[in-house]
Amino acid sequence: MRFDVITLFPAMVETLFDHGVMGRAAEQGRLQLVTWNPRDYAVDRHRTVDDRPYGGGPGMVMKVEPVRAAIQAARAAAQPAPVVYLTPEGRRLDGEVAGGMAGMERVILLCGRYEGIDERLIALEVDRELSIGDYVLSGGELAAMVVMDAVARLVPGVLGHAESAAQDAFSAGLLDCPHYTRPEAVAGLEVPAVLLGGDHAAVARWRHREALGRTWRKRPDLLEQRGMSDDEQALLADWRREHND
Ligand code: ADE
Repeated sequence: MRFDVITLFPAMVETLFDHGVMGRAAEQGRLQLVTWNPRDYAVDRHRTVDDRPYGGGPGMVMKVEPVRAAIQAARAAAQPAPVVYLTPEGRRLDGEVAGGMAGMERVILLCGRYEGIDERLIALEVDRELSIGDYVLSGGELAAMVVMDAVARLVPGVLGHAESAAQDAFSAGLLDCPHYTRPEAVAGLEVPAVLLGGDHAAVARWRHREALGRTWRKRPDLLEQRGMSDDEQALLADWRREHND
């Protein structure tokens, strides 16, 4: 999958592809990042990318021409792709949105800075608006990084086999089960015995039960939305008995 990011701070988003899962996937050629800096498309001597808002008030607004030229250059560089503007006004990112984007070959992410971008850019060039939550960031870069990470994990082959098994837990609409590694006891807290027993079916059942119990306790809204099979209802009842909950 190819991500094109329109940003005044390309170095900020490039670091995402230098580490961990994203770094490996980029190295393997499964992910590609291309950045486009509006400053490179500003034609005046000072390479101006922002200006004062009409009507007055504090802050600066990103200008149409350099940003639009950067978007158009990005559009023309490869196959057609939607332009997604990161803004708190957009649809909230969740697993479903990320899954939809992971099916695309390419997306163009537009990052705003300062007080915003000229409204006409949205009318002329933006296909979708996306938010990562109900708070305001200083710019779209962090949001774009969150979107790329969440989407890339759902692109086939980006996660290794072992990692994608863990991914299944959340894509099943449940929170993850608890995880433990050595040593067996820490400050009097022991690893659950079933995980030490080597019975793979029992482990799988325990993990499923824990995922149900945790989701029920911490995010009942997720469980409500998703529903449960008869078997899962029995597992949850079992978990609640054990936890006196
Ligand atoms: N830009 C600024 N705040 C944002 C947010 N919450 N989500 C997406 N883009 C943003």
